Amino acid sequence: MLRSSSVALVSLLGSVSVANAWFRVPCTNPLVQERLDPIISPGGNPSQHVHTIHGASTTIISVHPTARTALLQRHAISPEYYPQNIHGYTQDLSNYWFPKLYFQDPQTKLFEPVGNGGLLVYYQNRGDGDISNGGAGLKAFPPGLRMITNDPKRRSKKFPIGLGTQEELRERAVQWSCLRYSVGLPGYDDNGTGFPTTDCESGLNARLHMPACWDGENLDSADHVSHTAFLSGLDNGACPDGFLFFEVTWDVTDFSRRWNASVDKWPFVYSTGDPTGFSWHGDFQNGWDTTALQNAIDQCDNPNDQTGQGITDACKFLTVKPAALSNQCKIDSVVNEVINGTLTKLPGCNPLQFGPEDATIFNDANCPSS
Ligand SMILES: *[C@@H]1O[C@H](CO)[C@@H](O)[C@H](O)[C@H]1NC(C)=O
Ligand SMILES: *[C@@H]1O[C@H](CO)[C@@H](O)[C@H](O)[C@H]1NC(C)=O
Ligand SMILES: *[C@@H]1O[C@H](CO)[C@@H](O)[C@H](O)[C@H]1NC(C)=O
Repeated sequence: MLRSSSVALVSLLGSVSVANAWFRVPCTNPLVQERLDPIISPGGNPSQHVHTIHGASTTIISVHPTARTALLQRHAISPEYYPQNIHGYTQDLSNYWFPKLYFQDPQTKLFEPVGNGGLLVYYQNRGDGDISNGGAGLKAFPPGLRMITNDPKRRSKKFPIGLGTQEELRERAVQWSCLRYSVGLPGYDDNGTGFPTTDCESGLNARLHMPACWDGENLDSADHVSHTAFLSGLDNGACPDGFLFFEVTWDVTDFSRRWNASVDKWPFVYSTGDPTGFSWHGDFQNGWDTTALQNAIDQCDNPNDQTGQGITDACKFLTVKPAALSNQCKIDSVVNEVINGTLTKLPGCNPLQFGPEDATIFNDANCPSS
């Protein structure tokens, strides 16, 4: 069972009205986009499906020798480039990643990548453990913690909302909003757990809670899940009956002229071969300066001043990196395959699987011919 030590939280949007402190890490340009997965296939090339990976080059290469080699080769001449991270704060050398979204043209059946406005990661003090809720205070992530949330195999909802088990909380942790111009339009702000069916003229907003509770012992576990837990109320309550929040808005509207919602099926699919949205998942490996994060949690937590409003410049423990500098940080792809442009199939072995039963995970070696 989990101990009631909670890790720092990540949560979302909309929750800005609560008094608890929060800040967010904006990740605009990815570090790399390819079939790499430092948690599920550490050192593996390629991994199962295409990810968009944000965060520090230094942390990802620590578990990815091929990326390290490529980086060292590329930057051998200018080693000062090596420690840069691409987002947010000098103190955060974490990595954050999620599957890439593709558009499948209803006529040609060909796939094309869908852009997004970058990843926003929200850190919010939540749960009974937070000082503002009368608790003893939240603990920063331990060095080296890794975790994932949700499951690439999922294609449907399995549990009634509010059941409150960890499995149901994991399902509820994945939320979608179809951003429409006005409230009355179908799909508006429906917070669904799967893809909408209508065009979303202001974008498709995908949100993801990471677990907020940790067992206090294991930095990872065989399923990469069971050493963590959600708060009992997802973004409030106790550990573990125990948060990090990911938010990506996909530019689905770039394709609105290419499909007709009244006759075509929803045409967007994840790199996992998922046309339902239920497989949207996120991965995190901690690269924080623990002292800086703990100080930010404990002391940039005053609802009455700017630090309680998510204004990170007001938190003296965090150094905001200029975007121009952050955006220079890239690593070269180490997987030799095309993931952009117009593709006849999704990269790797990811045939479309519509569910509702769990999808079968294939790899390059056991790929059924289709
Ligand atoms: C959707 O979620 C947002 C943010 O949590 C919330 O403000 C809104 O009321 C929710 N909408 C519905 C229809 O539940
Ligand atoms: C979409 O399909 C419907 C039903 O066939 C049709 O009435 C409508 O004109 C189509 N819209 C566009 C933009 O083609
Ligand atoms: C794919 O496109 C993205 C966005 O334009 C770019 O950042 C990335 O480098 C491209 N990757 C490859 C392998 O071409």
